[in-house]
Amino acid sequence: SDLSFILGTRPEIIKLSPVIRACQQRDVPFSLIHTGQHYSDELDSVFFEQLELPAPEYNLSVGSGSQGKQTGEMIVEIESVLEEEQPDVVLVQGDTNSVLAGTIAATKIEGIEVGHVEAGLRSFDREMPEEINRRLADHSADYLFPPTETSRQQLLSEGLPDDWITVTGNTIVDAVMQNAEIAHEQSCVLSELGVEEEFGLLTAHRAENVDNRDRFISLLEGVAKAAREQELPVVYPIHPRAKKRIAEFDIDVPEAIRIMEPQDFLDFLVLEDEATIVFTDSGGVQEETCILQTPCVTLRDNTERPETVEVDANRIVGVEPDDIAEGTREMITVESEWENPFGDGTSAEQILDALEYDRE
Ligand code: UD1
Ligand code: UDP
Repeated sequence: SDLSFILGTRPEIIKLSPVIRACQQRDVPFSLIHTGQHYSDELDSVFFEQLELPAPEYNLSVGSGSQGKQTGEMIVEIESVLEEEQPDVVLVQGDTNSVLAGTIAATKIEGIEVGHVEAGLRSFDREMPEEINRRLADHSADYLFPPTETSRQQLLSEGLPDDWITVTGNTIVDAVMQNAEIAHEQSCVLSELGVEEEFGLLTAHRAENVDNRDRFISLLEGVAKAAREQELPVVYPIHPRAKKRIAEFDIDVPEAIRIMEPQDFLDFLVLEDEATIVFTDSGGVQEETCILQTPCVTLRDNTERPETVEVDANRIVGVEPDDIAEGTREMITVESEWENPFGDGTSAEQILDALEYDRE
């Protein structure tokens, strides 16, 4: 095939779906290599079905493990698939271990070039595994697709050549535009969950928050405090990492927060769109709330998506309860009429244009 996509987790499946569709429309031969980093149905196959993506040609079934074990096994497996497949270009998206492994394996094989979708994001927090992954991916790739001018400037400031870089917007805008209407038509999530009035939506899964007992408890208490102040019920579709930690740390989840299974993409889009406010530590959720004009409170000490804060769609509040409550009071009164900084929903087309795959 001309193009191989390497993907492994929920956000990569969602954010690469528009690029995969654009390949189908342009008749670009491609293959999908799934690392198996995510394997539970609700983080994986549900998105292939709902986004109508073809089944991956390869599933490497690497699964969970320590950073080194997971990444190392992926590198070995990806290398052997790529040697067989010999694509011209490998595309990776974002900052997961699958991205790092895919980039390292591909870049060292002669005749294969690497494109990094969502390049140039920086939290400047080197404690995060994602920050290491995205930096290394950017510095090994041949094509860089930053979503915004801010991320392009970051790449330039790190010495990466301008002619490798194309600002494309973020493919999440394409994905939201392709699915939001269908979501509202098809999803019954609001009535199923009984949240037809005002409600808050919470997602929290990031290692630095949920792997630390005190931090996770503080985060939950902060969201509960804000929820009580605003008289909002809060729903929390929980990532398996966070679910595991709640059991392991024996955490009592405050009554104001209702835990539920992870949602599929269409249901989750409706929840994000209809929520009064969203609390999150997710990268993709900061972007989607900004696109959907829903105010966001980010439960982290930093963000690699400063554009959302600049347009006044997001506040970075950390995990102290008073700060979460204050950020919520501020965001709840903000007028939701900011500009979406992440492009016009043609990112996938722009990526294929930059790779010179002609339109039909
Ligand atoms: C990974 C990414 C993170 C991204 C997230 C998207 C890295 C370093 N982290 O975090 O940047 O935001 O995916 O959701 O790449 N588990 C399951 N089922 C699965 C997968 C995982 O139950 O299908 C559980 C396992 O207990 C596992 C834990 O979740 O140990 C963590 O999974 P892992 O892939 O290591 O990281 P994520 O937290 O999912
Ligand atoms: N998402 C979903 N169901 C959920 C929670 C999130 O479909 O229950 C989607 C969400 O719409 C977004 C993506 O998953 O597109 C974000 O993934 P995640 O938060 O796991 O990873 P991050 O973006 O932080 O890397």
